[in-house]
Amino acid sequence: MLGSGFHHVLSELRVDAETPYSRLPGFPPTGVTGHAGKLLIGHLGETPVMVLSGRAHYYEGHPMALVTFAVRALAAYGIRDLLLTNAAGGVNRSLRPGDFMILSDHINLMGANPLRGGPVPGLPRFVDLTCAYDPGLRQLLRQAGRECGLKLRTGTYLAVCGPSYETPAEVRAFARLGADAVGMSTVPEVIVARQCGLNVAAMSCITNLAAGRSGKRLSHEEVLETAERVKKVAAQLLKNFVKLYGQNH
Ligand code: HPA
Repeated sequence: MLGSGFHHVLSELRVDAETPYSRLPGFPPTGVTGHAGKLLIGHLGETPVMVLSGRAHYYEGHPMALVTFAVRALAAYGIRDLLLTNAAGGVNRSLRPGDFMILSDHINLMGANPLRGGPVPGLPRFVDLTCAYDPGLRQLLRQAGRECGLKLRTGTYLAVCGPSYETPAEVRAFARLGADAVGMSTVPEVIVARQCGLNVAAMSCITNLAAGRSGKRLSHEEVLETAERVKKVAAQLLKNFVKLYGQNH
């Protein structure tokens, strides 16, 4: 699932089929700049992949069931492993815009849980998140980074609802809670993917320093600018990961 900063990899994809979400029953409409909203099936290098380009965000007003529908659909289709990407603000002072961070864990402060509601027949009601981010897939991400000369960071992603950015006081509080980066996505999809039994990995592109971590104000333009600046290396990273994945599965 591609988030801001990672769409450039589509230029490397050999596409066999491409369907806009608008033609897939139950899939969300997507609107935010930089999110196209289509499902692609094809090959990256030699490895067959399904790519969700664009996601529905909770802050757009969609119910959690819609935000996570595509993950349920792909799990039902039979995928086993899911890599999610996103843009995030750097809370940890050692993170810099343009860094990539492998998620080792998350803190859900969205104020909602996608599993709230009736039980899903055949799936666990109470989902264990002790090891939400698969160590084997994380290892492949690290190796993919090394192969393009990058030292990927590792850390805890804290999810907020948005769409306002955080206040400096919130960012200080999040740092004390143990967050390294903050963003407005990914966590609902991870929780549902784990309920469905998928192995999950996730990676953030740190597009900006979180509120109060620099002298600057935050803007969506800065997020998009950083995403644009790192798009080639982000694409290479994904390509390397998919190649290593293909060799190991
Ligand atoms: N905060 C929340 N979400 C984000 C940020 C941020 O600073 N940057 C990119 N997505």
